[in-house]
Amino acid sequence: MHPSLDQAMAESAERVAAVMHTLLPGLRPDAAGVLHTSPPEAPLWEAMRYGALGGGKRLRPFLVLESAKLFAVDLGQALRTAAAVEFVHCYSLIHDDLPAMDNSDLRRGKPTVHKQFDDAIAVLAGDGLLTYAFEVLADAETHPDAAVRCALVTALAQAAGPAGMVGGQMMDLVAERTPFDLAETTRLQRAKTGALFGFSARAGAILGQAAERDHQALTGYADAMGLAFQIADDLLDVEGTEAATGKPVGRDAAAGKATFVSLLGADAARRRATELADEAGRSLAPFGAAADNLKAVAQYVVNRQS
Ligand code: IPE
Ligand code: IPE
Ligand code: MG
Ligand code: MG
Ligand code: MG
Repeated sequence: MHPSLDQAMAESAERVAAVMHTLLPGLRPDAAGVLHTSPPEAPLWEAMRYGALGGGKRLRPFLVLESAKLFAVDLGQALRTAAAVEFVHCYSLIHDDLPAMDNSDLRRGKPTVHKQFDDAIAVLAGDGLLTYAFEVLADAETHPDAAVRCALVTALAQAAGPAGMVGGQMMDLVAERTPFDLAETTRLQRAKTGALFGFSARAGAILGQAAERDHQALTGYADAMGLAFQIADDLLDVEGTEAATGKPVGRDAAAGKATFVSLLGADAARRRATELADEAGRSLAPFGAAADNLKAVAQYVVNRQS
């Protein structure tokens, strides 16, 4: 990885982690303000913390922070938005790993939430992180203008919901049983993975109340970058190792899932990912050098080993 990108990503991950820790404290008072030392709901908070804190590349938060820099957005506002999108992402991983879905035992190098706790707690921890993300966005601390907060909530709901990530996860289940062609697979991956990247890349423009053309440039970037990212994820499932990725490999083919790699073959998939990363970079031309980290991260996602 480019040393300056490496440093910028590490710094961003550290800052976001600090905010996520503050937003997910170990013990919290109940609605009446009473602090119980061992309340019955404690395992829920513990599982939410386990699933959200520690580990992960924190890519979506990085996109939020870099996009926010383009519009001189207040760092505190950007960090809360970054934490919210990462909570949604972590929820999606917890549910994706459940026995009813991908049945994975390992995530980010650790036992998955349902292995560490149980299936029911994992369902609830995912539900908790998802709803909590919207509570964070809707709080006045995220932005003083209610219309901006409302725009963030709407955009994240669209990206994560049935027309976005959840719809993509549904298509992904169908893709195990029905042959999907390249166009259908592209639509699946745009929804499953690309939509949340799209929100992340546009979040700075929403917070900064940027012009429509800036939203469009960032949408173009995220669209290409998200597909490149998912092709790399599919390649890692075929060519990566459990030790490097921190999750099981070889699962897509075992499940008979249509992926870019199963459809195009590894070499053509890799070429396509590289083309998409270049295309993502070109979409950022209007921002000049200010978008260099976003350009670099699009190249990083296709060359990553984890
Ligand atoms: C994995 O996402 C899930 C997909 C959308 C393919 P990441 O590769 O960003 O996972 P973490 O956050 O780094 O663990
Ligand atoms: C999951 O895709 C994407 C989500 C929306 C969670 P995958 O099932 O390919 O993700 P990994 O490979 O388990 O991380
Ligand atoms: Mg899956
Ligand atoms: Mg999975
Ligand atoms: Mg995968």
